[in-house]
Amino acid sequence: MPRTPIICGNWKMHKSPNEAVAFVNELAPRVAGYDSVERVLAPTFLALAAVAVAAHGAPLQVAAQDGHWAPQGAYTSQVSAEMLRPYVNYVIIGHSECRAFLNETDVNVNRKAKAILAAGLRPIIAVGESLEQNQAGETVDFVQSQVKAALAGVSARDMANVVIAYEPIWAIGTGLSASGSMADAIIKSAVRDTIAALYDDAVASSIRIQYGGSVKPGNMEEFMSQPNIDGALVGGASLQVDDFTALIEIAARVKG
Ligand code: PGA
Repeated sequence: MPRTPIICGNWKMHKSPNEAVAFVNELAPRVAGYDSVERVLAPTFLALAAVAVAAHGAPLQVAAQDGHWAPQGAYTSQVSAEMLRPYVNYVIIGHSECRAFLNETDVNVNRKAKAILAAGLRPIIAVGESLEQNQAGETVDFVQSQVKAALAGVSARDMANVVIAYEPIWAIGTGLSASGSMADAIIKSAVRDTIAALYDDAVASSIRIQYGGSVKPGNMEEFMSQPNIDGALVGGASLQVDDFTALIEIAARVKG
């Protein structure tokens, strides 16, 4: 079965609820023709409910930027996967910024993945190596270990709802990106082949794997032309309607 490409705009700590709704209203008609691509936006928690309302009936899905594993409880600042259920389809977890600034660990990414799946939602699990690891030749081993840890205890059946985002940390927000073929090779050996070993070839060939890290209209075609890359997790270029529309158009043209 062909894998449906998925382009997710990760807005990080950008856009008020009003700005987010205005963006959705402008974007929706412009990307309406590209149904071969899943089009997803990840606003801040504060804008999530407003974006969910604005996106209702539009060809857009909504993602949260995190989701706690406990259904509720004494976890100041957190929002649970269970609470997100009415608002989102996807939940991004394990983003390198959360790993770096918020002490996100592999153990917690795994807890979150299982809770998100149990809530009937889909985790987008971000993995990726640092510049030092990349230069030391540790990329494949490290990314493999992140993938294994994130998926511990996740059933083969639930894997149909999992998306992995490979984002080399040195390429995020820096303007540097991996080359398409380099990213494809890492995605194949560190992610898809690891999933084949953990599950089987059917799971490995159906799971969707995004590339992320300074994706923009000028390099999108290079990434989308790769056989193992099924979409993109996009920060900076998802903040402008023109750029995000262009990314979706390119994904539809190359992959759709
Ligand atoms: P970037 O961010 O596109 O701005 O590099 C990607 C991400 O962090 O998901």
